[in-house]
Amino acid sequence: MTGPTNHTASATDDDAVMDAEALRERTLAALVTARERTELLTSCVEGPDLTAQVSPLMSPLVWDLAHIGNQEELWILRAVAGQEAIHPEIDSLYDAFEHPRSERPSLPLLEPEEARRYVADVRGRALDVLQGAALHGPRLTEAGFAFGMIAQHEQQHDETMLITHQLRRGPQALTAPDPAPAALLTGPAEVLVPGGPFTMGTSSEPWALDNERPAHRREVAPFFIDTVPVTNGAYRAFIDDGGYDDPRWWTTQGWDHVRRHALTAPLFWRRDSRQWLRRRFGVTEEVPAGEPVLHVCWYEADAYARWAGRRLPTEAEWEKAARHDPVSDRALRYPWGDADPGPEHANLGQRHLRPAPAGSYPAGESPLGVRQLIGDVWEWTSSDFAPYPGFQAFPYAEYSEVFFGPEYKVLRGGSFAADAVACRGTFRNWDYPIRRQIFSGFRTARSAEVS
Ligand code: AVJ
Ligand code: FE
Repeated sequence: MTGPTNHTASATDDDAVMDAEALRERTLAALVTARERTELLTSCVEGPDLTAQVSPLMSPLVWDLAHIGNQEELWILRAVAGQEAIHPEIDSLYDAFEHPRSERPSLPLLEPEEARRYVADVRGRALDVLQGAALHGPRLTEAGFAFGMIAQHEQQHDETMLITHQLRRGPQALTAPDPAPAALLTGPAEVLVPGGPFTMGTSSEPWALDNERPAHRREVAPFFIDTVPVTNGAYRAFIDDGGYDDPRWWTTQGWDHVRRHALTAPLFWRRDSRQWLRRRFGVTEEVPAGEPVLHVCWYEADAYARWAGRRLPTEAEWEKAARHDPVSDRALRYPWGDADPGPEHANLGQRHLRPAPAGSYPAGESPLGVRQLIGDVWEWTSSDFAPYPGFQAFPYAEYSEVFFGPEYKVLRGGSFAADAVACRGTFRNWDYPIRRQIFSGFRTARSAEVS
């Protein structure tokens, strides 16, 4: 369930009441979906695996759990409903800015059972607030924004917790069916996106976060973009060609990083005498050649693109390829149009614990025929994370504003681990260019010759 769609003014008061009730139902469903996922991710392992830190990059799962509840308490119970703090002394423990992830295991965190009781208590009260709230008026509650923001926040941490599960050693704890085999794309490997202005960002998507706003016109020169994400098979050709040993393909910082950390392949890959293997949620398997490459950092994506005689798309190019409808000159909510994502459009929501083969999801393709822009793998772009013209932090500067700057690169489109509520054509993710525990891949682009 995604955010509410835009409503035009209702014809009658009855319609307005119905719209308000439909919005309340959709908002409730988004919160329930997120909580079911959180419960699965925090009940599939035993206590010691909830409190352990599997990597200094990650929090213990029990920290994510109580932090989800604490954000819900801050924004729904206190900011929307004006209630008193339930446990004021725990706020600082779950403030992401007070304690870096590496320190979190040594904090006096709530024990798993206490954390479960706390998040359930907050959720019960939050649903009471939702039942009585006017889902309009001040910006925080307009179209249910605060509730939508909290559902997105929980789903973002559900993706983070899935990363923790992927990093965790030990037996498999999560299973999901593989994507159904589909007729794959047989068309061209790249498409031309014509030059000219398009609308980037949004001012009308009710649950869009501050960094996606406002809508503004952008001029983009004509370019070609891959119709599908770069596959494991294609990436292997870069490895086999000595790509990791050749400084020509790397930026100075990328080369420094790849040497210092002796990188030779994507994270979780290992070569035995015959083939490349990867570890995926506790199971070792052959690397599937036709699947989008996963767990590469920005430096690796950038080097591959240069080796291929291409480059990463800019963020604006990515969004134009994903949203611009050349026929109507409108910006779509998603590549396939304005309909909320369904299972036929995109691999989202942890329905599958892997990307679908490159070329899947014909129903999700863009007007120009670009596939899998939404779901499967987060796609690195060449762009730094920067505010749009007219950006205003809302409702808190620590969501986006404090991260703007050249040290973060933008990723677009969401992964199989991202939920539809936290993924749309305008959604922006960001991370350090060295990060690759995230569900990251990429596609490449090239500028079109202008005559
Ligand atoms: C948007 C994924 C970079 O996980 O750091 C969660 C999302 N912000 N809680 C992150 C977020 C606050 C954020 N990313
Ligand atoms: Fe958070």
